[in-house]
Amino acid sequence: MTELNNTTTPNVSETENSTPQPKKFQTLRGFQDLLPEFQDYYTMIKKAARHRGRQSGFKRITTPIMEETGVFSRSLGESSDVVRKEMFTMTSRSGKLMTLKPEATAGIMRAYIEHGMHTLPQPVQLYSIEPQFRYDRPQKGRFRQFHQVDFEVLGIKDPSVDAQMIHMAYKILEDLHIADRVDIQINSLGSAENRAEYIEALRDFFFDKKQHLSEDSQARLETNPLRILDSKDEDDQILVSMAPKLKDFLSEESKQYYETVKEYLRELEVPFYENEGLVRGLDYYCDTVFEIWDKSQGAQNAIGGGGRYDGLAELLGGQHTPAVGFAMGVERIVQHMKDAKITVPAKDKVHFFVAQLGEEGKKKALKITTNLRDLGYHAIGGMGKSSMKAQLKMADKSGARWAIILGEVEVRENKAILRDMHLGKQEILSLDNIEQAVIEKLNDSPDTYALGE
Ligand code: HAM
Repeated sequence: MTELNNTTTPNVSETENSTPQPKKFQTLRGFQDLLPEFQDYYTMIKKAARHRGRQSGFKRITTPIMEETGVFSRSLGESSDVVRKEMFTMTSRSGKLMTLKPEATAGIMRAYIEHGMHTLPQPVQLYSIEPQFRYDRPQKGRFRQFHQVDFEVLGIKDPSVDAQMIHMAYKILEDLHIADRVDIQINSLGSAENRAEYIEALRDFFFDKKQHLSEDSQARLETNPLRILDSKDEDDQILVSMAPKLKDFLSEESKQYYETVKEYLRELEVPFYENEGLVRGLDYYCDTVFEIWDKSQGAQNAIGGGGRYDGLAELLGGQHTPAVGFAMGVERIVQHMKDAKITVPAKDKVHFFVAQLGEEGKKKALKITTNLRDLGYHAIGGMGKSSMKAQLKMADKSGARWAIILGEVEVRENKAILRDMHLGKQEILSLDNIEQAVIEKLNDSPDTYALGE
Protein backbone atom coordinates (compact mmCIF):
# COMPACT_ATOMS: atom_id res chain seq x y z
CA MET A 1 0.00 0.00 0.00
CA THR A 2 2.73 2.41 1.04
CA GLU A 3 4.60 1.62 -2.12
CA LEU A 4 1.64 2.51 -4.24
CA ASN A 5 1.29 5.85 -2.46
CA ASN A 6 4.94 6.57 -3.04
CA THR A 7 4.91 6.06 -6.77
CA THR A 8 5.60 9.12 -8.87
CA THR A 9 3.91 9.85 -12.13
CA PRO A 10 5.90 8.23 -14.91
CA ASN A 11 7.49 10.52 -17.48
CA VAL A 12 7.82 13.43 -15.08
CA SER A 13 11.05 14.18 -13.26
CA GLU A 14 11.01 16.50 -10.28
CA THR A 15 13.83 18.51 -8.85
CA GLU A 16 13.70 19.91 -5.35
CA ASN A 17 11.23 22.79 -4.93
CA SER A 18 10.57 23.00 -8.63
CA THR A 19 7.53 22.26 -10.71
CA PRO A 20 7.61 18.90 -12.51
CA GLN A 21 9.48 19.05 -15.80
CA PRO A 22 8.18 16.91 -18.64
CA LYS A 23 10.60 14.08 -19.35
CA LYS A 24 12.80 14.51 -22.41
CA PHE A 25 12.39 11.37 -24.45
CA GLN A 26 15.14 9.69 -26.39
CA THR A 27 15.21 6.91 -28.94
CA LEU A 28 15.15 3.42 -27.47
CA ARG A 29 18.47 1.59 -27.11
CA GLY A 30 19.56 0.19 -30.45
CA PHE A 31 17.13 2.42 -32.36
CA GLN A 32 18.15 5.55 -34.19
CA ASP A 33 16.71 8.48 -36.07
CA LEU A 34 17.78 8.47 -39.69
CA LEU A 35 18.70 12.12 -40.04
CA PRO A 36 18.90 14.01 -43.36
CA GLU A 37 22.63 13.34 -43.80
CA PHE A 38 21.98 9.58 -43.53
CA GLN A 39 19.07 9.89 -45.96
CA ASP A 40 21.40 11.12 -48.72
CA TYR A 41 23.32 7.85 -48.44
CA TYR A 42 20.16 5.82 -48.05
CA THR A 43 18.69 7.39 -51.21
CA MET A 44 21.79 6.45 -53.18
CA ILE A 45 21.72 2.87 -51.86
CA LYS A 46 18.02 2.54 -52.67
CA LYS A 47 18.67 3.89 -56.15
CA ALA A 48 21.50 1.46 -56.82
CA ALA A 49 19.41 -1.46 -55.52
CA ARG A 50 16.30 -0.47 -57.49
CA HIS A 51 18.30 0.13 -60.64
CA ARG A 52 20.13 -3.21 -60.50
CA GLY A 53 16.87 -4.92 -59.53
CA ARG A 54 14.91 -3.46 -62.42
CA GLN A 55 17.69 -4.36 -64.86
CA SER A 56 17.28 -8.01 -63.86
CA GLY A 57 13.48 -8.12 -63.80
CA PHE A 58 12.82 -7.75 -60.05
CA LYS A 59 9.61 -6.20 -58.77
CA ARG A 60 9.17 -4.55 -55.42
CA ILE A 61 7.24 -6.07 -52.54
CA THR A 62 6.50 -4.75 -49.08
CA THR A 63 5.31 -7.25 -46.52
CA PRO A 64 3.86 -6.12 -43.17
CA ILE A 65 6.23 -5.09 -40.46
CA MET A 66 4.70 -7.77 -38.23
CA GLU A 67 3.85 -11.40 -38.86
CA GLU A 68 2.48 -14.24 -36.84
CA THR A 69 5.51 -15.46 -34.86
CA GLY A 70 5.43 -18.90 -36.50
CA VAL A 71 6.37 -17.37 -39.87
CA PHE A 72 9.80 -16.61 -38.45
CA SER A 73 10.26 -19.37 -35.89
CA ARG A 74 9.48 -22.05 -38.47
CA SER A 75 11.55 -20.42 -41.21
CA LEU A 76 14.69 -19.38 -39.38
CA GLY A 77 14.66 -22.40 -37.04
CA GLU A 78 13.86 -22.63 -33.34
CA SER A 79 17.56 -23.09 -32.62
CA SER A 80 18.78 -20.03 -34.55
CA ASP A 81 20.08 -17.11 -32.48
CA VAL A 82 17.50 -14.83 -34.06
CA VAL A 83 14.55 -16.96 -32.92
CA ARG A 84 16.02 -17.90 -29.54
CA LYS A 85 17.16 -14.47 -28.43
CA GLU A 86 16.49 -11.69 -30.88
CA MET A 87 12.84 -11.48 -31.79
CA PHE A 88 10.58 -8.62 -30.76
CA THR A 89 7.54 -10.69 -29.95
CA MET A 90 4.29 -9.51 -28.41
CA THR A 91 0.86 -10.91 -27.78
CA SER A 92 -2.16 -9.40 -29.48
CA ARG A 93 -5.34 -8.68 -27.53
CA SER A 94 -6.74 -11.95 -28.82
CA GLY A 95 -3.70 -13.85 -27.54
CA LYS A 96 -1.92 -14.35 -30.87
CA LEU A 97 1.90 -14.21 -30.85
CA MET A 98 3.17 -11.61 -33.28
CA THR A 99 6.75 -10.65 -34.14
CA LEU A 100 8.35 -7.60 -35.74
CA LYS A 101 10.16 -8.89 -38.79
CA PRO A 102 13.81 -9.75 -38.11
CA GLU A 103 14.50 -10.38 -41.82
CA ALA A 104 12.66 -10.23 -45.13
CA THR A 105 12.82 -13.72 -46.62
CA ALA A 106 10.25 -15.53 -44.45
CA GLY A 107 7.58 -12.84 -44.97
CA ILE A 108 8.20 -12.80 -48.72
CA MET A 109 7.82 -16.57 -48.91
CA ARG A 110 4.63 -16.35 -46.81
CA ALA A 111 3.32 -13.74 -49.29
CA TYR A 112 4.33 -15.90 -52.29
CA ILE A 113 2.28 -18.79 -50.88
CA GLU A 114 -0.63 -16.65 -49.67
CA HIS A 115 -1.07 -14.96 -53.07
CA GLY A 116 -0.66 -18.13 -55.07
CA MET A 117 2.37 -16.74 -56.88
CA HIS A 118 3.34 -20.25 -57.93
CA THR A 119 0.68 -19.84 -60.65
CA LEU A 120 2.61 -16.89 -62.14
CA PRO A 121 5.36 -17.50 -64.70
CA GLN A 122 8.38 -18.71 -62.69
CA PRO A 123 10.69 -17.55 -61.35
CA VAL A 124 9.06 -14.77 -59.37
CA GLN A 125 11.70 -12.12 -58.62
CA LEU A 126 11.01 -9.79 -55.74
CA TYR A 127 12.96 -7.18 -53.85
CA SER A 128 12.30 -5.15 -50.74
CA ILE A 129 13.88 -2.25 -48.89
CA GLU A 130 12.55 -2.33 -45.39
CA PRO A 131 13.29 -1.88 -41.69
CA GLN A 132 13.99 -5.07 -39.73
CA PHE A 133 14.09 -5.65 -35.98
CA ARG A 134 16.37 -7.83 -33.89
CA TYR A 135 16.72 -7.67 -30.15
CA ASP A 136 20.48 -7.98 -30.33
CA ARG A 137 23.01 -6.35 -28.00
CA PRO A 138 23.55 -2.96 -29.67
CA GLN A 139 27.08 -2.04 -30.66
CA LYS A 140 28.88 -0.47 -33.62
CA GLY A 141 27.12 -1.64 -36.77
CA ARG A 142 24.54 -3.60 -34.84
CA PHE A 143 21.14 -2.09 -34.20
CA ARG A 144 17.76 -3.24 -32.98
CA GLN A 145 16.10 -1.54 -35.91
CA PHE A 146 18.09 -1.65 -39.12
CA HIS A 147 17.32 -1.69 -42.81
CA GLN A 148 17.90 -4.32 -45.43
CA VAL A 149 17.84 -4.30 -49.21
CA ASP A 150 16.70 -7.80 -50.00
CA PHE A 151 16.39 -9.74 -53.27
CA GLU A 152 14.68 -13.08 -53.73
CA VAL A 153 14.21 -15.34 -56.76
CA LEU A 154 11.47 -17.89 -56.11
CA GLY A 155 10.49 -20.91 -58.17
CA ILE A 156 13.73 -21.93 -59.86
CA LYS A 157 16.81 -23.94 -59.03
CA ASP A 158 19.76 -23.33 -61.28
CA PRO A 159 23.38 -22.51 -60.44
CA SER A 160 23.31 -19.62 -62.90
CA VAL A 161 20.64 -17.94 -60.76
CA ASP A 162 22.74 -18.31 -57.59
CA ALA A 163 25.74 -16.87 -59.43
CA GLN A 164 23.65 -13.98 -60.73
CA MET A 165 22.50 -13.11 -57.21
CA ILE A 166 26.07 -12.93 -55.94
CA HIS A 167 27.03 -10.94 -59.03
CA MET A 168 24.18 -8.52 -58.41
CA ALA A 169 25.16 -7.95 -54.77
CA TYR A 170 28.70 -7.29 -55.94
CA LYS A 171 27.54 -4.89 -58.67
CA ILE A 172 25.45 -2.87 -56.20
CA LEU A 173 28.51 -2.49 -53.98
CA GLU A 174 30.53 -1.53 -57.05
CA ASP A 175 27.95 1.14 -57.92
CA LEU A 176 28.34 2.45 -54.37
CA HIS A 177 32.15 2.45 -54.74
CA ILE A 178 32.83 0.04 -51.90
CA ALA A 179 33.27 -3.29 -53.74
CA ASP A 180 37.03 -3.09 -53.13
CA ARG A 181 36.42 -3.04 -49.35
CA VAL A 182 34.64 -6.40 -49.24
CA ASP A 183 35.37 -10.10 -49.64
CA ILE A 184 32.75 -12.49 -50.87
CA GLN A 185 32.80 -15.79 -48.99
CA ILE A 186 30.94 -18.77 -50.38
CA ASN A 187 30.22 -22.34 -49.36
CA SER A 188 27.81 -25.16 -50.02
CA LEU A 189 25.70 -26.67 -47.26
CA GLY A 190 24.40 -29.47 -49.47
CA SER A 191 20.85 -30.73 -49.24
CA ALA A 192 18.84 -30.92 -46.00
CA GLU A 193 19.64 -34.66 -45.86
CA ASN A 194 23.38 -34.04 -46.37
CA ARG A 195 23.28 -31.53 -43.56
CA ALA A 196 21.35 -33.79 -41.19
CA GLU A 197 23.95 -36.54 -41.69
CA TYR A 198 26.77 -34.10 -41.15
CA ILE A 199 25.20 -32.73 -37.97
CA GLU A 200 24.98 -36.28 -36.62
CA ALA A 201 28.68 -36.79 -37.45
CA LEU A 202 29.54 -33.53 -35.65
CA ARG A 203 27.55 -34.60 -32.59
CA ASP A 204 29.42 -37.92 -32.53
CA PHE A 205 32.77 -36.19 -32.94
CA PHE A 206 32.21 -33.68 -30.15
CA PHE A 207 30.47 -36.19 -27.85
CA ASP A 208 33.55 -36.90 -25.71
CA LYS A 209 35.18 -33.51 -26.29
CA LYS A 210 32.34 -31.38 -25.03
CA GLN A 211 34.21 -30.17 -21.96
CA HIS A 212 36.94 -28.70 -24.20
CA LEU A 213 34.51 -26.53 -26.09
CA SER A 214 33.72 -22.94 -25.14
CA GLU A 215 30.52 -22.40 -23.19
CA ASP A 216 28.78 -21.02 -26.28
CA SER A 217 29.77 -24.00 -28.38
CA GLN A 218 28.68 -26.45 -25.69
CA ALA A 219 25.24 -24.88 -25.95
CA ARG A 220 25.43 -24.99 -29.74
CA LEU A 221 26.18 -28.70 -29.60
CA GLU A 222 22.69 -29.11 -28.16
CA THR A 223 20.88 -26.58 -30.31
CA ASN A 224 22.73 -26.22 -33.61
CA PRO A 225 26.13 -28.00 -33.89
CA LEU A 226 26.77 -26.41 -37.30
CA ARG A 227 27.30 -23.08 -35.59
CA ILE A 228 30.35 -24.51 -33.78
CA LEU A 229 32.09 -24.27 -37.15
CA ASP A 230 32.01 -20.50 -37.12
CA SER A 231 33.00 -20.11 -33.48
CA LYS A 232 35.72 -17.48 -32.97
CA ASP A 233 37.11 -19.26 -29.91
CA GLU A 234 40.68 -20.47 -30.55
CA ASP A 235 40.27 -23.83 -28.77
CA ASP A 236 37.01 -24.44 -30.61
CA GLN A 237 38.80 -23.68 -33.85
CA ILE A 238 41.49 -26.29 -33.14
CA LEU A 239 38.83 -28.92 -32.50
CA VAL A 240 36.91 -27.81 -35.58
CA SER A 241 40.03 -28.31 -37.72
CA MET A 242 40.01 -31.98 -36.67
CA ALA A 243 36.25 -32.46 -37.01
CA PRO A 244 34.56 -34.10 -40.02
CA LYS A 245 34.25 -31.80 -43.03
CA LEU A 246 30.91 -30.77 -44.44
CA LYS A 247 32.16 -31.13 -48.02
CA ASP A 248 32.67 -34.88 -47.43
CA PHE A 249 28.95 -35.20 -46.77
CA LEU A 250 27.74 -33.43 -49.89
CA SER A 251 25.91 -35.56 -52.44
CA GLU A 252 27.37 -35.75 -55.95
CA GLU A 253 24.52 -33.55 -57.10
CA SER A 254 25.27 -30.82 -54.52
CA LYS A 255 29.00 -31.00 -55.27
CA GLN A 256 28.35 -30.58 -58.97
CA TYR A 257 25.92 -27.75 -58.29
CA TYR A 258 28.51 -25.93 -56.20
CA GLU A 259 31.23 -26.43 -58.82
CA THR A 260 28.96 -24.92 -61.46
CA VAL A 261 28.09 -21.91 -59.29
CA LYS A 262 31.83 -21.22 -58.90
CA GLU A 263 32.42 -21.69 -62.60
CA TYR A 264 29.72 -19.11 -63.40
CA LEU A 265 31.11 -16.69 -60.82
CA ARG A 266 34.51 -16.90 -62.52
CA GLU A 267 32.80 -16.33 -65.85
CA LEU A 268 31.11 -13.23 -64.39
CA GLU A 269 34.45 -12.11 -62.94
CA VAL A 270 33.15 -11.94 -59.38
CA PRO A 271 36.05 -12.44 -56.97
CA PHE A 272 35.22 -14.87 -54.16
CA TYR A 273 36.78 -16.99 -51.43
CA GLU A 274 35.69 -20.49 -50.60
CA ASN A 275 35.05 -20.82 -46.91
CA GLU A 276 34.30 -24.28 -45.55
CA GLY A 277 33.29 -22.87 -42.19
CA LEU A 278 30.59 -20.59 -43.58
CA VAL A 279 27.29 -21.97 -42.31
CA ARG A 280 25.03 -18.87 -41.92
CA GLY A 281 22.96 -18.25 -38.84
CA LEU A 282 19.52 -19.09 -40.22
CA ASP A 283 18.32 -22.67 -40.63
CA TYR A 284 16.52 -22.46 -43.96
CA TYR A 285 19.60 -22.62 -46.18
CA CYS A 286 20.75 -25.46 -48.41
CA ASP A 287 23.41 -25.73 -51.12
CA THR A 288 24.84 -22.29 -51.98
CA VAL A 289 25.46 -19.87 -49.11
CA PHE A 290 27.44 -16.67 -49.22
CA GLU A 291 28.39 -13.68 -47.14
CA ILE A 292 29.89 -10.33 -47.95
CA TRP A 293 32.54 -9.48 -45.41
CA ASP A 294 34.30 -6.30 -44.59
CA LYS A 295 37.93 -6.96 -45.61
CA SER A 296 39.20 -5.60 -42.31
CA GLN A 297 36.64 -7.14 -39.94
CA GLY A 298 35.91 -10.56 -41.45
CA ALA A 299 32.77 -12.27 -40.24
CA GLN A 300 32.15 -9.50 -37.72
CA ASN A 301 29.56 -7.04 -39.02
CA ALA A 302 29.05 -8.68 -42.41
CA ILE A 303 27.62 -6.34 -45.01
CA GLY A 304 25.36 -8.93 -46.51
CA GLY A 305 24.53 -12.56 -46.80
CA GLY A 306 22.27 -15.01 -48.49
CA GLY A 307 21.89 -18.32 -50.18
CA ARG A 308 19.52 -20.97 -51.41
CA TYR A 309 16.52 -22.06 -49.36
CA ASP A 310 14.70 -24.75 -51.33
CA GLY A 311 12.86 -26.23 -48.33
CA LEU A 312 11.33 -23.07 -46.89
CA ALA A 313 8.06 -23.00 -48.85
CA GLU A 314 7.09 -26.43 -47.52
CA LEU A 315 7.91 -25.41 -43.94
CA LEU A 316 5.39 -22.58 -44.38
CA GLY A 317 2.67 -24.84 -45.77
CA GLY A 318 3.32 -24.23 -49.48
CA GLN A 319 4.32 -26.55 -52.26
CA HIS A 320 7.97 -27.25 -53.04
CA THR A 321 9.49 -23.98 -54.29
CA PRO A 322 13.25 -23.73 -54.77
CA ALA A 323 14.50 -20.23 -54.06
CA VAL A 324 17.62 -18.14 -53.57
CA GLY A 325 18.22 -14.64 -52.26
CA PHE A 326 20.34 -12.24 -50.27
CA ALA A 327 20.10 -9.17 -48.08
CA MET A 328 22.51 -6.35 -47.32
CA GLY A 329 22.41 -4.07 -44.29
CA VAL A 330 21.93 -0.41 -45.18
CA GLU A 331 23.51 0.99 -42.00
CA ARG A 332 26.65 -1.07 -42.56
CA ILE A 333 26.89 -0.01 -46.21
CA VAL A 334 26.55 3.63 -45.17
CA GLN A 335 29.33 3.21 -42.61
CA HIS A 336 31.58 1.80 -45.33
CA MET A 337 30.77 4.59 -47.71
CA LYS A 338 31.61 7.12 -45.02
CA ASP A 339 34.83 5.32 -44.08
CA ALA A 340 35.79 5.26 -47.76
CA LYS A 341 34.98 9.00 -47.93
CA ILE A 342 32.43 8.45 -50.66
CA THR A 343 30.45 11.62 -51.07
CA VAL A 344 26.85 11.34 -52.14
CA PRO A 345 24.96 13.88 -54.18
CA ALA A 346 22.84 15.93 -51.81
CA LYS A 347 19.70 16.74 -53.77
CA ASP A 348 18.54 18.95 -50.92
CA LYS A 349 20.67 21.92 -52.06
CA VAL A 350 19.00 25.33 -52.07
CA HIS A 351 19.15 27.38 -55.27
CA PHE A 352 17.39 30.56 -54.12
CA PHE A 353 16.67 32.19 -50.81
CA VAL A 354 14.03 34.90 -51.06
CA ALA A 355 14.31 37.56 -48.35
CA GLN A 356 11.62 40.20 -47.85
CA LEU A 357 10.44 43.11 -45.75
CA GLY A 358 6.98 44.66 -45.43
CA GLU A 359 3.54 43.39 -46.45
CA GLU A 360 4.06 44.01 -50.21
CA GLY A 361 7.51 42.42 -50.10
CA LYS A 362 6.12 39.35 -48.40
CA LYS A 363 3.39 38.89 -51.03
CA LYS A 364 5.87 39.25 -53.87
CA ALA A 365 8.34 36.91 -52.15
CA LEU A 366 5.63 34.30 -51.69
CA LYS A 367 4.77 34.44 -55.39
CA ILE A 368 8.39 34.38 -56.60
CA THR A 369 9.29 31.50 -54.28
CA THR A 370 6.40 29.32 -55.40
CA ASN A 371 6.90 30.23 -59.09
CA LEU A 372 10.55 29.17 -58.86
CA ARG A 373 9.52 25.89 -57.25
CA ASP A 374 6.97 25.26 -60.02
CA LEU A 375 9.73 25.80 -62.55
CA GLY A 376 11.79 23.10 -60.85
CA TYR A 377 14.13 25.10 -58.63
CA HIS A 378 14.71 24.79 -54.94
CA ALA A 379 13.58 28.01 -53.34
CA ILE A 380 13.05 28.84 -49.71
CA GLY A 381 12.29 32.12 -48.03
CA GLY A 382 12.44 34.05 -44.82
CA MET A 383 8.71 34.10 -44.28
CA GLY A 384 8.74 35.16 -40.65
CA LYS A 385 9.16 38.67 -39.37
CA SER A 386 12.94 38.60 -39.02
CA SER A 387 15.11 41.58 -39.88
CA MET A 388 16.84 41.65 -43.28
CA LYS A 389 20.17 40.99 -41.55
CA ALA A 390 18.80 37.89 -39.84
CA GLN A 391 17.28 36.67 -43.10
CA LEU A 392 20.56 37.06 -44.96
CA LYS A 393 22.24 35.06 -42.23
CA MET A 394 19.64 32.35 -42.77
CA ALA A 395 20.29 32.53 -46.52
CA ASP A 396 23.97 32.00 -45.85
CA LYS A 397 23.36 29.05 -43.52
CA SER A 398 20.95 27.45 -45.98
CA GLY A 399 23.75 27.18 -48.52
CA ALA A 400 21.63 29.02 -51.12
CA ARG A 401 23.48 29.94 -54.31
CA TRP A 402 21.57 33.21 -54.75
CA ALA A 403 19.55 35.46 -52.49
CA ILE A 404 16.70 37.49 -53.96
CA ILE A 405 16.20 40.48 -51.70
CA LEU A 406 12.90 42.31 -51.64
CA GLY A 407 13.40 45.32 -49.36
CA GLU A 408 10.58 47.85 -48.94
CA VAL A 409 12.30 50.45 -51.15
CA GLU A 410 13.05 47.95 -53.95
CA VAL A 411 9.52 46.61 -54.00
CA ARG A 412 8.12 50.10 -54.24
CA GLU A 413 10.31 50.63 -57.31
CA ASN A 414 9.33 47.22 -58.79
CA LYS A 415 12.87 45.96 -58.26
CA ALA A 416 14.80 43.33 -56.35
CA ILE A 417 18.44 42.80 -55.41
CA LEU A 418 20.03 39.59 -56.58
CA ARG A 419 22.97 38.62 -54.40
CA ASP A 420 25.54 36.05 -55.43
CA MET A 421 26.06 34.20 -52.14
CA HIS A 422 29.36 32.72 -53.26
CA LEU A 423 31.00 35.88 -54.53
CA GLY A 424 29.17 38.39 -52.36
CA LYS A 425 28.37 40.53 -55.44
CA GLN A 426 24.94 41.93 -56.06
CA GLU A 427 22.91 43.58 -58.80
CA ILE A 428 19.50 45.14 -59.23
CA LEU A 429 16.84 43.36 -61.31
CA SER A 430 13.36 44.34 -62.38
CA LEU A 431 10.59 42.36 -60.72
CA ASP A 432 9.02 41.79 -64.15
CA ASN A 433 9.75 38.21 -65.09
CA ILE A 434 12.39 38.03 -62.38
CA GLU A 435 12.07 34.23 -62.22
CA GLN A 436 13.47 33.77 -65.74
CA ALA A 437 16.25 36.27 -65.08
CA VAL A 438 17.47 34.51 -61.93
CA ILE A 439 17.19 31.06 -63.47
CA GLU A 440 19.46 32.19 -66.31
CA LYS A 441 22.01 33.33 -63.74
CA LEU A 442 21.83 30.02 -61.90
CA ASN A 443 22.67 27.95 -64.96
CA ASP A 444 21.62 24.65 -63.36
CA SER A 445 19.12 22.13 -64.66
CA PRO A 446 15.72 22.09 -62.99
CA ASP A 447 14.75 19.33 -60.59
CA THR A 448 11.50 18.29 -62.21
CA TYR A 449 9.75 14.99 -62.52
CA ALA A 450 6.77 13.80 -64.42
CA LEU A 451 4.42 11.26 -62.93
CA GLY A 452 4.27 8.25 -65.17
CA GLU A 453 7.81 8.57 -66.41
P1 HAM B 1 21.42 -12.00 -42.39
O1 HAM B 1 22.81 -12.42 -42.66
O2 HAM B 1 20.83 -12.37 -41.08
O3 HAM B 1 20.56 -12.61 -43.58
O4 HAM B 1 21.29 -10.44 -42.57
C1 HAM B 1 21.70 -9.80 -43.75
C2 HAM B 1 22.40 -8.51 -43.42
O5 HAM B 1 21.57 -7.66 -42.62
C3 HAM B 1 23.66 -8.66 -42.60
O6 HAM B 1 24.75 -9.05 -43.38
C4 HAM B 1 23.83 -7.25 -42.04
O7 HAM B 1 24.42 -6.38 -42.99
C5 HAM B 1 22.40 -6.82 -41.82
N1 HAM B 1 22.08 -6.99 -40.39
C6 HAM B 1 21.67 -8.10 -39.75
N2 HAM B 1 21.47 -7.86 -38.45
C7 HAM B 1 21.78 -6.56 -38.24
C8 HAM B 1 21.77 -5.69 -37.09
N3 HAM B 1 21.39 -6.12 -35.89
N4 HAM B 1 22.16 -4.40 -37.26
C9 HAM B 1 22.55 -3.95 -38.47
N5 HAM B 1 22.55 -4.71 -39.59
C10 HAM B 1 22.17 -5.99 -39.47
C11 HAM B 1 19.22 -12.45 -43.69
O8 HAM B 1 18.57 -11.66 -43.08
C12 HAM B 1 18.62 -13.30 -44.81
N6 HAM B 1 17.19 -13.06 -44.82
C13 HAM B 1 19.25 -12.98 -46.13
C14 HAM B 1 18.66 -13.76 -47.25
C15 HAM B 1 17.79 -13.33 -48.17
N7 HAM B 1 18.86 -15.05 -47.46
C16 HAM B 1 18.14 -15.41 -48.51
N8 HAM B 1 17.46 -14.38 -48.93
